[in-house]
Amino acid sequence: MDRRTVLITGASGGIGGALCRRLLQKGYRVIDFGRRRAFPENIPNYHHCCADLLDASQLQQRVKRLVSEIPTLDAAVLAAGCGRFGNLEEFSAEQIRYLLELNLLSPILLCRWLVPHFKRKKSSDLILIGSEAAIRGGRKGAVYSASKFGLRGFSQALRAESASQGLRVGLVNPGMVRSGFFDELDFAPAADENCALSVDDVAACILQMLEMPSHCVLDEINLSPLQHVISFD
Ligand SMILES: NC(=O)c1ccc[n+]([C@@H]2O[C@H](COP(=O)([O-])OP(=O)(O)OC[C@H]3O[C@@H](n4cnc5c(N)ncnc54)[C@H](OP(=O)(O)O)[C@@H]3O)[C@@H](O)[C@H]2O)c1
Repeated sequence: MDRRTVLITGASGGIGGALCRRLLQKGYRVIDFGRRRAFPENIPNYHHCCADLLDASQLQQRVKRLVSEIPTLDAAVLAAGCGRFGNLEEFSAEQIRYLLELNLLSPILLCRWLVPHFKRKKSSDLILIGSEAAIRGGRKGAVYSASKFGLRGFSQALRAESASQGLRVGLVNPGMVRSGFFDELDFAPAADENCALSVDDVAACILQMLEMPSHCVLDEINLSPLQHVISFD
């Protein structure tokens, strides 16, 4: 196959890391776009581009440099994000801003700078990571759901305006996935393996989206564990 080059955010974390490993094993070229490198630099086909997604002023310049240095870049999977949960009145304005900036504004800005490059390709892919919270709001999830509903609307609109130029826009909405996502939360999926997805389950799904023939789009996938059981600390 022609070697594709995929930019990944969140590669130092669970879902992005699993995808990065999987793509490298399959011979893709991967650009790890994040604050901390996920793998040592000497791994073949792996490149780290140091970027803090919360520093909006960096993003345009980083992307501009990447597309000029690595013109084969033809896909991006934006997996960085975090979850904070609680009743709305428990959030400070700063905490609300942080969640919306990381989960919604930063992927929108990254897409803003990547899309013109992708539209010049014959075919390209942009995959965003939503959540079950992008489909249905639930208790203590108002701010997180706002960020993920926003991302879902954004991906649908971008898909509609980009398809004629060969750019496929996809969204994966996972239920609970065992990862560092829960490290700072007071709950996690219950221990039984039926109660959570693995990061490799989600990575497999993203890989399938990337590998569909170019005339087909897996535009939105809802992937859930068999059971929904939460355990509290
Ligand atoms: N786990 C779940 O149950 C679940 C379910 C549905 C959806 N999701 C979504 O899936 C995505 C990935 O989650 P995950 O489970 O892989 O979480 P994770 O293991 O906690 O990974 C989060 C990733 O986001 C990166 N990140 C955070 N802040 C950043 C910043 N300012 N600049 C650059 N990178 C930053 C982290 O990098 P650092 O190493 O630099 O912190 C890390 O690589 C998120 O969008 C999340 O909302 C997760």
